[in-house]
Amino acid sequence: MSELDELARRRGFFFQANEAYGGVSGFYTYGPEGAALKRNVEETWRDRFVTREGNMEIDAPTVTPEPVFEASGHLDGFDDMLVECAECGDSHRADHVVEDTTDIEDAETYPTGKVEDIIAEHDLACPSCGAPLAGQSVDEFNLMFETSIGPGSGQPGYLRPETAQGMFTEFPRLKEYARNQLPFGAAQIGAGYRNEISPRNALVRAREFTMAELEYFVDPEGEGPDLSRVEDVELPLYPAGAQEADGEEYLHLTPREALDEGVVGDEWVAYFLARSKAWFERVGVDMERFRFRQHLPGELAHYASDCWDAEGEVDGDWIELEGVASRTDYDLSKHSEHADDTFTVFKQYDEPKTVERATVDPDMSYLGPEFGGDAGAVADALEALAARDRSAFDGDEVTVEVDGDEVTVPTEKTGFSVEEVTESGRHIVPHVVEPAFGVGRAVYTVLAHNYDTDEVEGETRDVLRLPAEVSPTTVGVFPLMDKDGLGDTARDLAADLREAGLSVTYDDSGNIGRRYRRQDEVGTPYCVTVDYESLEDGTVTLRDRDTTDQVRVDADDLGDVLRSLRDGDREFAEL
Ligand code: GAP
Repeated sequence: MSELDELARRRGFFFQANEAYGGVSGFYTYGPEGAALKRNVEETWRDRFVTREGNMEIDAPTVTPEPVFEASGHLDGFDDMLVECAECGDSHRADHVVEDTTDIEDAETYPTGKVEDIIAEHDLACPSCGAPLAGQSVDEFNLMFETSIGPGSGQPGYLRPETAQGMFTEFPRLKEYARNQLPFGAAQIGAGYRNEISPRNALVRAREFTMAELEYFVDPEGEGPDLSRVEDVELPLYPAGAQEADGEEYLHLTPREALDEGVVGDEWVAYFLARSKAWFERVGVDMERFRFRQHLPGELAHYASDCWDAEGEVDGDWIELEGVASRTDYDLSKHSEHADDTFTVFKQYDEPKTVERATVDPDMSYLGPEFGGDAGAVADALEALAARDRSAFDGDEVTVEVDGDEVTVPTEKTGFSVEEVTESGRHIVPHVVEPAFGVGRAVYTVLAHNYDTDEVEGETRDVLRLPAEVSPTTVGVFPLMDKDGLGDTARDLAADLREAGLSVTYDDSGNIGRRYRRQDEVGTPYCVTVDYESLEDGTVTLRDRDTTDQVRVDADDLGDVLRSLRDGDREFAEL
């Protein structure tokens, strides 16, 4: 167990769930400190990506019926590579076995056959028992947890592997709430489930984890973001080209520069990279151990045309914290094909336009006898083809696909014509730019980047230098001793501070030094001590975690002072 995992368990940040029953890998419970830290991290995300961006937030079910994932492509394409050991029966992610034991860093992007060959060529062994894996097949393993909805097996469903589909399937309503105006964003914070082959590194690869995702719907021909709002942000970029050239050089560019130099291809992606960087810095990710890495072509998810991962370094490994993906019109087009609703937005022109429109008016007295029950589908396919590619009607025959079969119709029976029509606008399928965060990975990285050991008055102390805004507790309140009225005064003060909306821990056990150490270790930025002077003049000692400096503050002002320190409106040194 790493030092961090040990601290996390001992001080109640997170620990394996259901340990009383032996526990199952990949499931974690956040303890009191961790749940508070996670909640604060989520609040800052909501503040940044919902409130300040003017986006909407929804809360959709986690159990999702199968047709949604047929449409989204997850049923067919949401797989990892599985290899099973013939000796001990353990399952492993084949690409991880390769990446962990060879120089190959991008096995995830290879086809299964190639990974099988590499395992054989390098004579790679089972990470659990050391038996050779050569000759074992490498198979695609779908990561979704399946369930059945209601009694019987009539309705298969899945635990959602991403919250994103909630925003896509509800798009027909969401666009109404947005008054059919693009761009607009819909966000969700909630659980995602993936039946990971080999969960590892605690919160980093879990089977149930919290995601915070924003789906930003844009007109691909519309105006881009206001980049002047992020003009000062410098992005540490690691483009695909540099990775392929085995370079470790990052480019440090503003969003505008990254776009002008062709490093980032989409204005909205550049904008959200900048917003993401600022958010990661705000919650305490060390910017010296942070970068944006572009996906290699073979690494892209089935829905993405480009993606940049925000990554944080922990113990020499780069952890993917967020992906900012261009999902193009993939999702809404797929749901348009599969669902009975409209996944388009009507885009009004400034002035009505006269345009040529290709239409069909098929001769049903021909299609009916020729195609029977499929005649309607053939007519629909002809109409779609006319809108898409009118040159297909140039010859004597037209071929369309219906239910996977090609059918041919004489052009004269299609009633094809091109007319001039005046349109006030047109229906477009919005494109999606998606910043998708793993909350658990952010929490884990924030803990790793802020866990420190230093020396105070000749003694070693463990200290978690969390930003005050996300610290589980804002202030520890201690009486010097629980006698002569000190305890009662301190308890009253703690109650007043809680009423003032602060997160407070009261502690009267052990000497003051030990109480400070306990709070330092869980990241509490401030501690207050009530002593005999407090009883005389109403002041208390306020101590700063990072510097251990102390000042005396009037107890009546303490609520305001602490709130302003927590919210970053004031520095401790100013006191
Ligand atoms: N909707 C896009 C999407 O799901 P993703 O990159 O697969 O994208 C988003 O997931 C984020 O969720 C990742 O960047 C990562 O931070 C987090 N994540 C993914 N799998 C995870 C797992 N097994 N355990 C913890 N976090 C995970």
